[in-house]
Formats: sequence, structure tokens, C-alpha cells
Amino acid sequence: MFNFNIAIIGIGRVGLPLGLSLAKEGFKVIGIDINKDVIDKVNRKIMPFEEAGYEELIKRVDFFATSDISEVQNSENIIITVGTPLLSHIETDLSQITGVLESMTPYIREGHNIILRSTVAPKTTDFVRKYLEQKTCLKVGQTVFLTFCPERIAEGKALKELKELPQIIGSEDPKSAKKAEEIFKRLTGDILHTTFISAELVKLFNNISRYIHFAVSNQFSIIADDFGQNIYEIIEMANYKYPRGIIAKPGFTAGTCLRKDFGMINETIPYTDLLLSAWKINEFMPKFMVDNLQKRVAIYNKNVAVLGYSFKNDTDDTRDSLTPKLIRYIKREMPLEVKVHDPYLPDEIDCRYKNYSLDDAIEKADIIYIATNHKQFREQKDYIISKISADCWIVDLWNVFGVGKTFFKKEEVK
Ligand SMILES: NC(=O)c1ccc[n+]([C@@H]2O[C@H](COP(=O)([O-])OP(=O)(O)OC[C@H]3O[C@@H](n4cnc5c(N)ncnc54)[C@H](O)[C@@H]3O)[C@@H](O)[C@H]2O)c1
Repeated sequence: MFNFNIAIIGIGRVGLPLGLSLAKEGFKVIGIDINKDVIDKVNRKIMPFEEAGYEELIKRVDFFATSDISEVQNSENIIITVGTPLLSHIETDLSQITGVLESMTPYIREGHNIILRSTVAPKTTDFVRKYLEQKTCLKVGQTVFLTFCPERIAEGKALKELKELPQIIGSEDPKSAKKAEEIFKRLTGDILHTTFISAELVKLFNNISRYIHFAVSNQFSIIADDFGQNIYEIIEMANYKYPRGIIAKPGFTAGTCLRKDFGMINETIPYTDLLLSAWKINEFMPKFMVDNLQKRVAIYNKNVAVLGYSFKNDTDDTRDSLTPKLIRYIKREMPLEVKVHDPYLPDEIDCRYKNYSLDDAIEKADIIYIATNHKQFREQKDYIISKISADCWIVDLWNVFGVGKTFFKKEEVK
């Protein structure tokens, strides 16, 4: 009756690895996207972005991509994995979800099983249910099936985590729950069933608790520096043989998931809360790195190198990175030049910055910011130190150089 077992709508960083992993498990999978570049690359068996293990997998499995949404009528199961960013206000941007619903609904018919997998605000799956029931004559749980099955992988670890992480299935009827389980049990042996809203909250609470956890460390690093002390030494001692409440390391806490997911809860309450405070602290870190350096040395008329631009280590994903904000604050101080280097990115970064070679970026640097903790910077520490001038300042919130301080001079690097 159906040509495909599964159609994945939105073959980005979540949808494509999921689709390829499901194809590896023997499902017939089709990917649907509006981005022609992505479709073209996928059909040429090229990964459009870095995700460990998938460059090889995409060449090995049958996976076809198309922009033709009518293909959903040929697939028994439909998994929605489009983006759900925040608008510039604290408000979830539902436009990609509503875009999918508008284009897909004319092709939905009896028996279809729909799985929402994008990270969504509480009650969004219920909104999808209402949408489907209003625009078709189908009834969820009887003639069409709907679950919310959150994706909880970390970028770069999809291959492993899709098999290892338990799958939460949020449903409001047993038939939908069973249909989703039939798919995900081929990936993982651990399935947990709950309601739509609890499943939505599990995903949000997972991300928000990490966001707050890092905000605490970031605030501690500001406090330690205000007292003239070194945050890394303090955290190491605090965690050493101490069995309760490990303190995380400070760093830029951002990226497309962590930075936005607090807003999906925060938009539902009118008052200031812990989530909003975590946002404020994490968002302040670029300013901290500029202002507190300037207590030691002025940026004015200096050559500055910024190493790392993507939002986290060892990825080419620049979405919601804090580095552009850091660069803007540096530029407000009128340096002579700011040169950016990121080993994972192309020659032109986000159509905004030239991506210099490491040598070009650091050659004349008076100040180096380690903005992302890429493994290359740790491995190239000795090389970088050998190339820079004796009085070069380094700002290393991530402790990539292992000095244990956020602000230090070249001579302090062992
Ligand atoms: N990236 C992660 O590590 C991660 C992890 C867990 C959960 N999530 C969540 O998963 C969801 C997807 O994230 P992502 O990083 O894959 O986003 P992405 O931007 O990489 O992918 C989304 C894809 O959807 C496509 N799309 C948008 N509108 C469409 C439409 N109407 N029809 C078909 N395709 C459409 C886009 O072109 C894009 O390719 C988000 O809700 C995100 O919060 C992401």
C-alpha cells in the first residue's frame, strides 16, 4: 500500500542522521526538505554537514531526498524534524512546523502515523492534533496516529546515541504509542511511554538543566575574577573527592538547542525566573571576556585573533554561536584588526568574516581569544605559543591551554 516505511520531513542535523540510521535498520526511508542544496548533496551521497560516521553511512544505505511533499502519501510513517528557533522576542517560532502542516495535510489519509520530533514548547503536539483533526476528517488515535518522540542526541554523537539513548514516546492513545514504538524499538531497546506534554517537558528539562548548570559555572568564573582568583583552580578543588554536586567548567554556552529551549517554557510565564537569569549570565560571557581583559590590557589599537567560531567544539555548526557577539564587543574597542580562524569552517564564515589560516590569524596577534574549545587548539598549543610574541595576552575561558586562568600572558603557558 505504501512505497516507503518512513518519510522524514526536514533532513537537517537531526532528520538526516535519524533517516540514515533508520535506513541502516532496514526501513525504506525518504527525506523531504525545502532546501535544494541539501537535497542535491544527499542524493549525491554527500553529507551536507559534519556528523561522525555518517559520511560513510550515507554512501552505504538507500536514502532518497526530495522537495516533493506529496511523497508523504506514499509513506506509512511521517517524522517531522524541522527547526523550532526562538523569535527575537521570547517566543517560539512555529513557522517551520506550521509550514509543514500546511503543505503536508492535503496528503494525509487514513492510517498515516505522524511523529513530531522537533523540540517544541508544551502543548505543541496537541496543537498538531487539533490542526489535523480540524483540516481533515480524521481522528487521532482512530484513523490517524500521532506521538511526540523527542530527539535527545548531541551533535557529533548521533550514530552512537540514537542506539543508546532511551526513547521517550508521548501519546494520548495506545494505538499511536504502539506505532511509534514499532519504529524506535529497532534503534533502541529502551522505550519510555508518557503523555504529549510530559514528553515535551522531558526534552526541554534535559536541555534547560544543562543550560542552568553551565550558567552557574559561568557566574562563578565572573565572581572568581572579580576577587582576582582563578576559576579553574577553585573548581578543581571544589570537585576533588567531593561526592555531591559536581561543578561544570565555564565556557560559551549557546548553540541552537541550549540557547533557545529555555524560551519555550519562559514564554509561558510573565515573571523573571531562574531560566531567564541563566540566559542573562550565559549571554553576558562575551562581554565579560572583553571587559575583564581590559582591566589588564587595552584592546584599542591591538591586533586580535579569535580562534574558533562554531558554537561548540569539533563541529561546523555556527548557529547561535556566541563568537559573533564576542567579535562585535571586541570591535567596539577599536582594535587595529580582528582575524578569525576556525578549522571546521570554509574560507568565508557566515558571509561575514574571512576565515584566516591559523598562521595568518596569530602571526601579529597582541591578543588571542580562544572562543571555541576545538581539539585542534589543544593539540596545537605548543605551536601557537611558539609563534606568538612574548607579550601576547590570551583569553581562554575554556582552559584549552591548561593554564587554569581565563586571562594570562604567553609566559604563563607551560
Ligand atoms: N541539532 C541538534 O543537535 C538537535 C538535537 C536535538 C533536538 N534538536 C531539535 O530538532 C529540530 C531540528 O533541528 P536541526 O538542528 O536538525 O535543524 P536544521 O535547521 O538543521 O534542520 C531543519 C531542516 O528542516 C527543513 N525545513 C524547514 N521547513 C521545512 C518544510 N516546510 N518542509 C520541509 N523541510 C523543511 C530545513 O530546510 C532544514 O533542512 C529542532 O527542533 C531542534 O531544536 C536538535
